[in-house]
Amino acid sequence: MTSRPNGEPLVRLSGVNKWFGELHVLQDIDLDIARGEVVVVIGPSGSGKSTLCRAINRLEPIEKGEISIDGERLPDEGKDLARLRADVGMVFQSFNLFAHKTILENVTLGPVKVRKKPKADADKRARELLDRVGVSAQVDKYPAQLSGGQQQRVAIARALAMEPKVMLFDEPTSALDPEMINEVLDVMVGLAKDGMTMVVVTHEMGFARRAANRVVFMDEGRIVETAEPETFFTAPKSERAKDFLSKILTH
Ligand SMILES: Nc1ncnc2c1ncn2[C@@H]1O[C@H](COP(=O)(O)OP(=O)(O)OP(=O)(O)O)[C@@H](O)[C@H]1O
Ligand SMILES: [Mg+2]
Repeated sequence: MTSRPNGEPLVRLSGVNKWFGELHVLQDIDLDIARGEVVVVIGPSGSGKSTLCRAINRLEPIEKGEISIDGERLPDEGKDLARLRADVGMVFQSFNLFAHKTILENVTLGPVKVRKKPKADADKRARELLDRVGVSAQVDKYPAQLSGGQQQRVAIARALAMEPKVMLFDEPTSALDPEMINEVLDVMVGLAKDGMTMVVVTHEMGFARRAANRVVFMDEGRIVETAEPETFFTAPKSERAKDFLSKILTH
């Protein structure tokens, strides 16, 4: 998949800077993500990948620059922020499901409480989504009764239930046993094929090759290199990317 979708960017970061105290963790980040585009973010530990994701839905404030979603600038706080944040679905390394709610309730809670969807509609949609991610047999169970891979697929269904415009994934498979990684990646590839706009922090090169339009390589808070996956993995330009790839490829 190498064709780049056209049109106005759905997500736009311009001149984004963030500090944690003295640490300049995001440095002059400019990144446009088109509607339907899948961007894989890769880079060494501590390079700012998670912070970038968290900044996109304002879990982390930024000190300088602008982030807009679908043409609307993200405000610092207030009702508009809550509305725009609901447009951004996020899936983390740890699944963060509500332990005392069933799988179905985990997926319907947001739509009912935040989107004010009628319960019956939310149930119907949740069942469709749980079917799509392959856990429809588990709807009445509790998270602890599911495998890690199943829980992560429920987390994806839960995010999708909010009907987000863009989905952020921060190392969604790195806490999973190897045999469960592919079942989660397959769901993500399906989403990408269906045209979801996605930002995915992952070192899974197979996923990048199958589903990404672009790879963004970060180091020390900067975007060092941007390329199509095949180009990035076979012929990285920067020394830092070459060095990083040589390390992850030998593991
Ligand atoms: N809440 C915080 N307060 C202070 N420093 C932080 C905070 N969160 C992250 N940092 C620091 O900011 C830098 C970037 O962290 P971030 O988590 O974005 O990196 P990352 O690329 O996601 O790394 P990893 O691959 O290990 O997940 C790191 O040096 C980290 O220690
Ligand atoms: Mg991280």
